[in-house]
Amino acid sequence: MSADRRPVIIIGAGAGGLAAALRLAEAGVPAMIVVKGALGDGSTAWAQGGLAAVSDPADSLAAHAADTIAAGAGLCDPDAVAALVAAAPAAIDRLAALGARFDAGPRGYALGLEGGHGARRIVHAGGDASGAEVAATLAAAARRAVDRGALEVRVAMVTDLLRDRAGAVAGVRTLDRRGRREVLAARAVVLATGGIGRVYAASTNPDTATGDGLALAARVGAVINDAEFVQFHPTGLAVPGERVALISEAVRGEGARLIGVDGRSITAGVHPLGDLAPRDVVAAAIHRELINSGADHVLLDATMIADFDEHFPGIAAACRAAGIDPVSEPIPVRPVEHYHCGGVRADLRGRTGIPGLYAVGEVAGTGVHGANRLASNSLTEALVAGAAAGRLLAAGVPAPGDPVDPPPTELLDPGARTAIGAAMSRGAGLLRDADGLRSLGGELARIGARATGRVSIAAAEAANLHLVARLIATAAANRTESRGCHRRADHPAPVERWQRHQSLVLGPDGSF
Ligand code: SIN
Repeated sequence: MSADRRPVIIIGAGAGGLAAALRLAEAGVPAMIVVKGALGDGSTAWAQGGLAAVSDPADSLAAHAADTIAAGAGLCDPDAVAALVAAAPAAIDRLAALGARFDAGPRGYALGLEGGHGARRIVHAGGDASGAEVAATLAAAARRAVDRGALEVRVAMVTDLLRDRAGAVAGVRTLDRRGRREVLAARAVVLATGGIGRVYAASTNPDTATGDGLALAARVGAVINDAEFVQFHPTGLAVPGERVALISEAVRGEGARLIGVDGRSITAGVHPLGDLAPRDVVAAAIHRELINSGADHVLLDATMIADFDEHFPGIAAACRAAGIDPVSEPIPVRPVEHYHCGGVRADLRGRTGIPGLYAVGEVAGTGVHGANRLASNSLTEALVAGAAAGRLLAAGVPAPGDPVDPPPTELLDPGARTAIGAAMSRGAGLLRDADGLRSLGGELARIGARATGRVSIAAAEAANLHLVARLIATAAANRTESRGCHRRADHPAPVERWQRHQSLVLGPDGSF
């Protein structure tokens, strides 16, 4: 195959991956999506609140940027934030032009309010089905591109990135459900693999969120920034299970109140924005309340919201499935892992610094989110960065040489997944300390000895989860302060010397 006709390979088919693929397909550049499930699968489809973007004339880009930076606790890159908020309105309009049916208000989009936002600026769809609408719209557009021969889709997991002799990423090795491996040469590779939720015992993320992109990038020497910043959403539905239903911040935006089991406000006196403070502040306040009260949940009283079912049909259904009627009784909630603010160091066009390797969406650490992401900036970032990477690659990038085919990554016993989740939830949860992180390091070392020769997607995911767990544990142990969503019981305040990104690179000896 001539280098010029090699496809750009996009790993993942959520908002970031599909936005990139569509730009390439429109430009007539060969592109291939490799995805573990189906087009539109991933965390995107599960997002509830919506997409943050300025559309009200009374709001401003400067205000959106200021709220993003305030939530980010001193670690946002102002230029990246400015670029994101400036590109956001057009990204939403483009999605609407593709057919997304956003909820309408009196003067354009209906706008929701969420934690940390000083204005109503959350564009949503179907009340609380915003992510599903985004994913369905992009997936339908991608299917049309497939039908006209402008895009290829492979259902498989990428287990290795392959480089040419000069070190540029030049292809991937895949593994399908039947255990078959394949080498695919690429013009460039875009990581759009989403989050890391499954590294914890409970998460709002889908099962496929196993940190694949982060692990792939780390193994080829990419810089990983700010891995310690794992965001815990304040209000996961407090019922047993690994996959936790989210109760969107938008519910608090419509007036719901967080109270302890004794009826007292959780956030009174904690932050001027009260229950609508940035997510890290509210999650930490709930965590404190849980420790003080000994309860395993707090309550979200949404009984004052008129027409709850019309506003939030998906949340109402999830509550009722758990035996809770949100119209007549408070909803039991507790913080749960939700989003990885750090990631593969990249700019808002996906460039990672490794020739041929791009990263967009949750897997990327662009500096937009700092130490704590502002609500509903995630889908917006994925769309903006995905489209920008697609445009950049469509304009042409240097062709790599032929991919060299190194030995496959060592796999891990799939049973390790449960052990990793339990260890991470104990040692690197919402509140961390040196002792817990030290024991976590020991546990992860023992789990790492469970290598397996049996080739399967589950074993490859377990290996990725293990690497990502080590990365987060190392970064969390290094950062001896509390900032944003990284909270240390033994270092409870932010310190000036840590007002910087933490960059880690996997060394040849396997340590960070
Ligand atoms: C939510 O609806 O509360 C989640 C939105 C987000 O993660 O930004």
